[in-house]
Amino acid sequence: MYVFTYKKSDIMSENHVIHTMLNHKSVRKYKNEPPTQEEIEQIVRAGQQAPFVSQLYSVLLSRNREKHPFKAPLMFTICVDIQKMEKIMDKKGWKMVTNDLSLLLFGIQDAAYMAQNMVTAGESMGIGSVFLGRAIYIAESIKKEYQLPDRVFPLVQLAMGYPDEDEPPRPRYPLDFVLFENKYPELTDDLIDKAVSMMDEGYLQQDYYRKLNAKIKLSGDKEDRFTYDDYSWTEHISRKWGQWYDSIETPLKQLETCGFHIVTDEED
Ligand SMILES: Cc1cc2nc3c(=O)[nH]c(=O)nc-3n(C[C@H](O)[C@H](O)[C@H](O)COP(=O)(O)O)c2cc1C
Repeated sequence: MYVFTYKKSDIMSENHVIHTMLNHKSVRKYKNEPPTQEEIEQIVRAGQQAPFVSQLYSVLLSRNREKHPFKAPLMFTICVDIQKMEKIMDKKGWKMVTNDLSLLLFGIQDAAYMAQNMVTAGESMGIGSVFLGRAIYIAESIKKEYQLPDRVFPLVQLAMGYPDEDEPPRPRYPLDFVLFENKYPELTDDLIDKAVSMMDEGYLQQDYYRKLNAKIKLSGDKEDRFTYDDYSWTEHISRKWGQWYDSIETPLKQLETCGFHIVTDEED
């Protein structure tokens, strides 16, 4: 059995940036007091300083705590925004010819790096956050709520505020399941078992799913033999990808609603 432990040298790193990053944990319990306007602006500025393809993003902010998941004081919605670029190009006498799939793939990177910079910036100031993946499935209602123009797609939401909990960092795969030098190795049973063990034992040690009451139900009449004593990350994540989101139509429809046309030339 491989038990997830933290190298003291990691967690105690004297490098402030590494220390902040290795101590990252999503926060799901927040104090009432919101971050100040100055803190918010610093976080978004730090987000903006992420490397970019073309700054293909916009960030929406809501302070309506009662409506936010986990009653977080702030909720950002990070959008892929192609409109801005097209408006700038228009002024310069250019027309966008790049296909929407490429724009989306690049835009997702711009928005994601910026969003993660915001997470790290916040954490360096004692402000916690958690991403919320629902945006891509409720894009239509977000579009209505924030009156988004076409060519703006809400990619991910980020709830944020001062933490009212102090959980340990969650486990990650062992490095030899992630970093492959020169050649992608054969994923042997040993490598896979080690990765599974490290993740599952780590989450069980923290009683993570029991505390969140986050067991995913089995569909149909399948018998669930797992309890919170043995339900852990690999079971959770297998239930998610093994049961949800099988239709491509739903995300395509959300994209279409936001003015992104993801089809092959033959279908066009
Ligand atoms: C794109 C994305 C979507 C996520 N969506 C949710 C969500 O809807 N609800 C939630 O509680 N956590 C969500 N998370 C947070 C992950 O569950 C969390 O990052 C992961 O379990 C690792 O834990 P850690 O961030 O504490 O290290 C999301 C994370 C990402 C990157």
